[in-house]
Amino acid sequence: MSTRHFLSLLDLTSDELHNLILRGIELKEYRKEGQVVDTLSRKTLAMIFDKSSTRTRVSFETGMTLLGGHAIFLSPRDTQLGRGEPLPDAARVISRMVDGVMIRTYDHNVIETFAEHSAVPVINGLTDLLHPCQLLADMQTYFEHRGNIAGKKVAWIGDGNNMCHSYINASIRYGFTLAIACPEGYEPDPDILSNAGDRASVIHDPLEAAKDADLVVTDVWASMGQEEEQKKREIAFASYQVNSALMQRADPAALFMHCLPAHRDEEVTTEVLEGPQSVVWDEAENRLYAQNALLEFLMS
Ligand code: CP
Ligand code: NVA
Repeated sequence: MSTRHFLSLLDLTSDELHNLILRGIELKEYRKEGQVVDTLSRKTLAMIFDKSSTRTRVSFETGMTLLGGHAIFLSPRDTQLGRGEPLPDAARVISRMVDGVMIRTYDHNVIETFAEHSAVPVINGLTDLLHPCQLLADMQTYFEHRGNIAGKKVAWIGDGNNMCHSYINASIRYGFTLAIACPEGYEPDPDILSNAGDRASVIHDPLEAAKDADLVVTDVWASMGQEEEQKKREIAFASYQVNSALMQRADPAALFMHCLPAHRDEEVTTEVLEGPQSVVWDEAENRLYAQNALLEFLMS
């Protein structure tokens, strides 16, 4: 069988993704009970980071340790990747030595090229286009708190960015409807959106998008690589803050999620972030378990 990669949620079927949720929950229970699970004993994951990270690095590195394996952190500054070694060459060399590769980078083409030349599974740890690992954690978190998300309504409030794109893909695979509220000019990629058909739609008005939602999600207004646009974006997104007035439009049992790191009182008020509907800390913790289910699936 050819090597499976996880560059997008669409690389896995709905059934496979659902099984990852169940396995993630199981792995979390085992950890809390102190049970050892060494399904990736003596396996190595190479982690290439072209961008900063806290959650992704800590969760993958700890995750490999928990499963009995090992992770190597590679930054372009200290490897030949930063000195212009061709990506296909690096992919062929690294993948002859390790059992999996996780990459966080800017251009999505980089991860696609690497995967094309890699003999082992490649995992997308975030690109400018997609952030599928975060969705594994978000979907596990929703399941733990509220059960199956199929048939529910999710409101995306903010930028049509990598997280928004992964929510659009998630609407296809997990079967929820997605209302996207973003300012004019900050819409998601039209191809990714149209692929979801009726499942996902751009509404623009945040209060309308949030109406009766079961889950409200936002993210920073300026992503990594867009720092110089921060001021311009603060103006464009001013009416797209997730605050208590917006949360009141949602279903009373609605949850709030944010992939973090958050800019308090910018895209979300401290009141909502720290409030009773927020599950952001569970969401961050679940990166570990959801990804361990994925690592097992791809590498064991
Ligand atoms: N949510 C997320 O991916 O966080 P990091 O940038 O800290 O990895
Ligand atoms: N959209 C954000 C997500 C960070 C985890 C970014 O790309 O910077």
